[in-house]
Amino acid sequence: MQYGHFDDNAREYVITRPDTPYPWINYLGCEDFFGLFSNTSGGYCFCRDARMLRLTRYRYNNVPADSGGRYFYLRDEGDVWTPSWMPMKSSLDRYECRHGMGYSKISSARNGLAFSQVSFVPLHDTCEIHKVTLTNESNIDKRIDMFSFIEFCLWNANDDMTNFQRNFSIGEVEIDGSRIYHKTEYRERRNHYAVWAVNVPIEGFDTDRQTFLGLYNGFDHPQAVFEGEAKNSVASGWAPVGSHHIKARLAPGEVKTFVFVLGYCENHEDQKWERPGVINKKPANILLEKYGTSNAADKALAALNEYWKNLLGRFTVDAEDKKMARMAGVWNQYQCMVTFNMSRSASYFESGIGRGMGFRDSNQDLLGFVHLVPERARSRILDIAATQFPDGSAYHQYQPLTKRGNNEVGSGFNDDPLWLICGTAAYIKETGDYGILEEKVPFDNNDALADTLFVHLKRSFDYTVTHTGPHGLPLIGRADWNDCLNLNCFSKTPGESFQTTANYESGVAESVLIAAIFAFTGPDYAEICRRTNRIEEAEYAEKAIAKMIEVIDQHGWDGDWFVRAYDAYGKKIGSRECEDGKIFIESNGFAVMADIGIKDGRARKALDSVKEHLESPYGIVLLQPAYKDYHLELGEVSSYPPGYKENAGIFCHNNPWVTIAETRLGRGNRAFETYAKICPAYREDDSDLRRLEPYVYAQMVAGKDAVRHGEAKNSWLTGTAAWTFVSISQYILGVRPVFDGLMIDPCIPSSMKGFTVTRHFRGADYHITVDNGAGVEKGIKSIMVDGNSLDGEALKKAVLPAFGDNKAHNIIVTMGK
Ligand code: BGC
Ligand code: NOJ
Repeated sequence: MQYGHFDDNAREYVITRPDTPYPWINYLGCEDFFGLFSNTSGGYCFCRDARMLRLTRYRYNNVPADSGGRYFYLRDEGDVWTPSWMPMKSSLDRYECRHGMGYSKISSARNGLAFSQVSFVPLHDTCEIHKVTLTNESNIDKRIDMFSFIEFCLWNANDDMTNFQRNFSIGEVEIDGSRIYHKTEYRERRNHYAVWAVNVPIEGFDTDRQTFLGLYNGFDHPQAVFEGEAKNSVASGWAPVGSHHIKARLAPGEVKTFVFVLGYCENHEDQKWERPGVINKKPANILLEKYGTSNAADKALAALNEYWKNLLGRFTVDAEDKKMARMAGVWNQYQCMVTFNMSRSASYFESGIGRGMGFRDSNQDLLGFVHLVPERARSRILDIAATQFPDGSAYHQYQPLTKRGNNEVGSGFNDDPLWLICGTAAYIKETGDYGILEEKVPFDNNDALADTLFVHLKRSFDYTVTHTGPHGLPLIGRADWNDCLNLNCFSKTPGESFQTTANYESGVAESVLIAAIFAFTGPDYAEICRRTNRIEEAEYAEKAIAKMIEVIDQHGWDGDWFVRAYDAYGKKIGSRECEDGKIFIESNGFAVMADIGIKDGRARKALDSVKEHLESPYGIVLLQPAYKDYHLELGEVSSYPPGYKENAGIFCHNNPWVTIAETRLGRGNRAFETYAKICPAYREDDSDLRRLEPYVYAQMVAGKDAVRHGEAKNSWLTGTAAWTFVSISQYILGVRPVFDGLMIDPCIPSSMKGFTVTRHFRGADYHITVDNGAGVEKGIKSIMVDGNSLDGEALKKAVLPAFGDNKAHNIIVTMGK
């Protein structure tokens, strides 16, 4: 069943009933201020860091689901209802939620009163705007009481949920007309406060939760609203909230608009107070003046729309297959921007208080947004590299506010270093900016240890070369890409981390995946060396790569597929010799991506084995057979019930590796099949089973061994976003940035008649039309560039030059044998 539909022209997903199988959310904000916003107005917001600067409170795993947000209560002659459906689950005559690019709109109606709420974070300011419109659609006068409601978080979201002995005594607010200020801890070490304001005079207010709701009431039965009167409560300790009471008279047909702003404001240390005990409201005045009218709110929204239009204009797709076109052209890229902003911090599955930025995650996310915001990708690379250790290993995570490596997790994930090469190469291929290699970047966040980014890449490369095990394969360390393959951990104690528990240097456990990543990304390193005149280094790198490929040939091939790893006893993982976990997806996808076994048929065999053993209707599962028991020597992977997460779930992140691998074999039909199976738009009418948003990828879909096979979890913040975008844009549609320019190399289903892509690349626009009247899967017969055909070598290479002339260029590609 469907719960909505795509509106492609508006770039919106339209949810048509509020009781979606899980809250379907959107992200507001693209710079410093962010909000998570569900289709029933649930969620929360924060400034910069979801853990340290949280403005509103949200209770994860709550009952009922998704309670807490920015709520409006309407009281229409005694009839109390919530127009966003939650929290009262009011019956509505009309309901619609449109999630768009950086904004959401909820509109509903009941008994002749129409409500609409447009919510967004304007560019360049640290606030959420909620523009609310009431329309009297009846033919009698209406006297409406409207109450707003938010609950403040006491800033540090972790402390807010745990330290009640202190927190119940520290809450403070100030009220000034229609503006409610939340100033907890402002008297001590904080220089910031929040303001919740509306642009009309109010009848009354509440700032004390218990007074507003009643101690034993939920959000669905606020006492003040049911009594029709705010109590003008002033919070002192306990739980500060913000509620405005507005009275609105509406004649038949009359429309009234209100602009609510929830802002974050900072003052200089020595300008905190207006007078003793009264906060300096200057920054709030400036902010609220700016968005004080409905016109101003509309203008800010228009500017935001323009921003997204320009951004997504850098890569657009048109094709007969609308599902593919809307995902690749809009939603997949949108999700990539969200992973750029959030990394893995705040979603409906990530609490915002846990993981910071991952070293490997951030490098891979970059692959999905480097074409959209190359300058920001550049500084991201430098931030990430600064958390690398002098020996080439890296902090596994770092904190977004401080940009410092996270000591609790430390290092020892031996795939990490290589992702820095992968991300940097993607950046250079996109921009042609080799200058980044000469930037001085600290090691271990220590300026005294700074060296050029190129040296960082070299240390990454060398780390892999010098940390090999008995077979000559890279040592795995705490884990590789698969965080749950903890081959040196042997954890017996409940509650301890599988990844960071001691024992981690057996010097034996090896990863075929890291070897394959090395074989895939190493050549980019060698090429970068050549192109920057480091010829000796290039030769050294090429030799090391050739040697690694030999080792994979000798010890990484199992007969029908690639081995996954060797454990601390030197036993194979992902081999026919194993009882469970005979075959894994990761090493097979990545080895073929690196073109290993293409000439001798092993690549084909490996991918056929993947299809034979790992295929399911909803994507490719991570391994088979699923581990039935916990294996001390394998770690977390065997801790999950069969079919979930890394234990044979469909871990979507690695499916595009197989997609890309299939294109290396020229199998466009199969490549597209693997693409479409995990693509949410193709499962829109299966929402009761899939449950999560049909417009974004999820980290995991339960595998075939699971009780809930086909059910998705962990939407939004996943490396799936970047890798699927790479697979569809660069390898299926085949518009791929390479060092020399833009390569054209489509590998599509034979039934796809063609498509068009517009691509902004190094200062020019490429309008690319691909014609597949011939019905092939791969192969190019001709390419016309601005009316001139490419011939001979140029056609074979199929690389369009970087025109860099700020002009549009017409490229016509004809596929064929
Ligand atoms: C999850 C992984 C995740 C890791 C992060 C594990 O429990 O299964 O997907 O990467 O935690 O620490
Ligand atoms: C999620 C983590 O964020 C990512 O880094 C990891 O590769 C996958 N889980 C697989 O374990």
